[in-house]
Amino acid sequence: MKPQAVRQSFVDFFVARGHVHLPSASLVPDALSTTLFTIAGMEQFVPVFLGQAPAPAPRVVTVQRCLRVAGGKNDIESVGRTGRHATFLEMLGNFSFGEYYKREAIAWAWEYLTRELGLDRDRLYATVYVDDDEAAALWGEEAGLDPGRISRFREDNFWDMGPTGPCGPCSEIFYDLGPAAGCGRPDCAVGCPHCNRFIEVWNLVFQQYDRDAGGELHPLPRHAIDTGMGFERLCMILAGKTSIFDTELYTSIIHALPKPEGTTSLPAEEAAVARRVIADHARAAVFLAADGVRPGNSERGYVMRFLMRRALRAGRRLALPEGFFSGLVDAVVASLEDGYPQLRDAAPEARRVLAAEEKLFARTLARGEARLAALLDAVRARGENVLPGRDVFELHDTYGFPPELTAEIAREQGLTADLAGYRAAMDEQRERARRDAAAKRSALRPAQGQLVDVPGSAFVGYEELEAQAAIVALFDEQGAPVEVLEQGQSGIVVLDRTPFYAERGGQAGDRGIIAKAGPEAASFEVRDTQYQDKRYRRILHKGVVTAGSLRVGETVEALVDPAWRREIRRHHTVTHLLQRALKDVLGDAVAQRGSAVFPDRTRFDFDAPTGALSRETARQVEGRVNELIRSDFHRQVESMPFAQAVARGAVYMKGEQYGDEVRVVTFGPSVELCGGTHVSSTGEIGHFVLLSESAIAAGVRRVEGLASAAADSYIGRLRDEAATAADLLSAPQDELSQAVRRIEQERRELARRLERLESELAQAEASRHVAQAQAENGVRYVAVQAAGPQQVRPLADALREALGEGVVVVAGADGERVTLSVNVAQSLAARGISAKDILAAMTPHVEGRGGGSATAAQGGGRKPAGTRAALDAAVEALRAAARG
Ligand code: ALA
Repeated sequence: MKPQAVRQSFVDFFVARGHVHLPSASLVPDALSTTLFTIAGMEQFVPVFLGQAPAPAPRVVTVQRCLRVAGGKNDIESVGRTGRHATFLEMLGNFSFGEYYKREAIAWAWEYLTRELGLDRDRLYATVYVDDDEAAALWGEEAGLDPGRISRFREDNFWDMGPTGPCGPCSEIFYDLGPAAGCGRPDCAVGCPHCNRFIEVWNLVFQQYDRDAGGELHPLPRHAIDTGMGFERLCMILAGKTSIFDTELYTSIIHALPKPEGTTSLPAEEAAVARRVIADHARAAVFLAADGVRPGNSERGYVMRFLMRRALRAGRRLALPEGFFSGLVDAVVASLEDGYPQLRDAAPEARRVLAAEEKLFARTLARGEARLAALLDAVRARGENVLPGRDVFELHDTYGFPPELTAEIAREQGLTADLAGYRAAMDEQRERARRDAAAKRSALRPAQGQLVDVPGSAFVGYEELEAQAAIVALFDEQGAPVEVLEQGQSGIVVLDRTPFYAERGGQAGDRGIIAKAGPEAASFEVRDTQYQDKRYRRILHKGVVTAGSLRVGETVEALVDPAWRREIRRHHTVTHLLQRALKDVLGDAVAQRGSAVFPDRTRFDFDAPTGALSRETARQVEGRVNELIRSDFHRQVESMPFAQAVARGAVYMKGEQYGDEVRVVTFGPSVELCGGTHVSSTGEIGHFVLLSESAIAAGVRRVEGLASAAADSYIGRLRDEAATAADLLSAPQDELSQAVRRIEQERRELARRLERLESELAQAEASRHVAQAQAENGVRYVAVQAAGPQQVRPLADALREALGEGVVVVAGADGERVTLSVNVAQSLAARGISAKDILAAMTPHVEGRGGGSATAAQGGGRKPAGTRAALDAAVEALRAAARG
């Protein structure tokens, strides 16, 4: 039976029994599905089972394309290794939505297999759920199966599509492939863990429950039948085979594989597995492409890419030529289009998608291969034979190079790869990532929806750094609301009022302590303060209980760390002055793009009309800020309507949201809309240092600066550096650059002298060699070895000069590499003596490469031991050329 005839007979059988034939749904299930791909025929009917959608018909029959890549029984590693596992598969299914139930499902399944298809009744077995006596009895009544052919299982006879959703007990039909396919153990039977002699063909699910996220089972509104028969397995049985890969569904694809290019050391069985993997993954990839999935880095795209790269790697192991995979599209389409006519139209796009991914992967491999070669060289150079795990990791992490492939290539070169070390490096990275995540705890948030009843917090911290407040809510490390936070616990404290400034407008959140006095004294160290969300209502104090415990409803003292806040204030005000100064110096087109204010630095991003700041301009800006500081302008804070503030010339950040009533902060000529905290007069800032200036985007510059204590310590460090350098140079501190310039001049003079000496030496050496120059057929030549790679060039130059008309060959080697140079006089080149050809005779001896013209050629190699042989080869080649 042809595959399409099998599909058709199944559909016809059930249509004749009142079923409506519906088309296969896409491999991409609808958005609410709990699975990434369509994994079963029932997938498109999930809402029907759950009573959320009307049944399209009371009885339905489908042939559904499916993709199963999840772990468990369908382990992807098994694909190609067993005769029954595949990622892409077709499922034949009949469904009843509240109409018939177990009896009909069992009776028809039996009738279809034994009468319609004529399978041998003696090879069929059934399984039922442990306590499903009803199903067991039905197998007797409807199929005449005696109890000895019915087994009972618990897990294997309860089907679900995943942790949640429709599920229920099931009954499976097994087929005996015969003793030859089995393990031969006396107790071999259905469910045998050692072999695949008894193969599951058809699963009849009695859908009864909906499992919720808590694992609880709720009865479905009505019982339903959901069956699924493995189409590939059925075709296999009908063809008298014991592996699905021996059916024409796969053989037609495997036969379409191109011939290997070159040889592979793969053992025959491994090669067969690789071909099966390719065939299965090609089916999956083509149908994924047809269903609109594209290779990518997340979710479905990732799975698609993963499958394709697995196939490409298998192709590499088989030494298949590049392009083999996209070349399979036609074969895949031909094998499936009877059942899915739409595939024909999708073929060109599928070919394009597969070819693009194939190229991309080839590039990834090419990039990684160069690095791998270098790393393997290094292993050999160290006299070792194991590629360290961290190298394997680097190849994977940086180049996307699969570790198995790294190991394989290393093996080909007689080395091994430390895969255990690789895994350790991987774990280490995971651990790092975990620690980073833990460090980001300041991103800790109350769990979704847990704050609805929590009132907002009043910010009282513009004027005070200490306040008495009541705890209105507490959250633990997971963001869950709690009544108490105990000593040692991290979490969040929400107060009715607080002096802690929560991060906003670029100003960092406050740190400090929330304390409780008295016999039940407690202390909570606030490490960060943030708003719950952009509504800026609830202020979250994040930190850890360092003593005692805190309880909701208690009264506490909220104490901002005064030094922290003081330095933040100074840096915030200086940021305003910096904006003013930038506008004063560069013009009013300077517009703020963002800022970040910390206690020890500030950062200011702005649209810079004039591009990079010159050193002089930067000095000017810095000077202007310090001038504004020294003017000791007093702070003025007013609240006014937005329009009025703008009319006043207040600067504000475009794109930032401001309310109707805004807070305007003024220091002399600096007027800004700002909700942050500031010094009371600018003199308090002390002084300012403009640290660095850089570009962060087209037209956007970033300046960083230090004020107050941070500026002091920076200048202190700079002075220490200068003093040390002055000591080393024996020069006064204010003449450092002069001293360095003098030294640089001396260094250059020495280099020039060294060069002159080397050239003189080369000339002397050259004259010696030229005196012993040999000739062949009137062609004079010198072929000599220089002291090292560095000396090849000067020696060759000197020889050319000294020899005049002739051929000059020079090679120089150190412990690692060889440099080659060949020069042929113009007149000799005209006679057919080619420098390039002579070089070509040399390179094989040093595992080298190179090129050039007929008069001059250069090259390099990696095998110093072959230098002498290379020179000999050059002489031979040039003599032969001279003889014509
Ligand atoms: N939904 C059942 C299965 O996939 C039939 O096995």
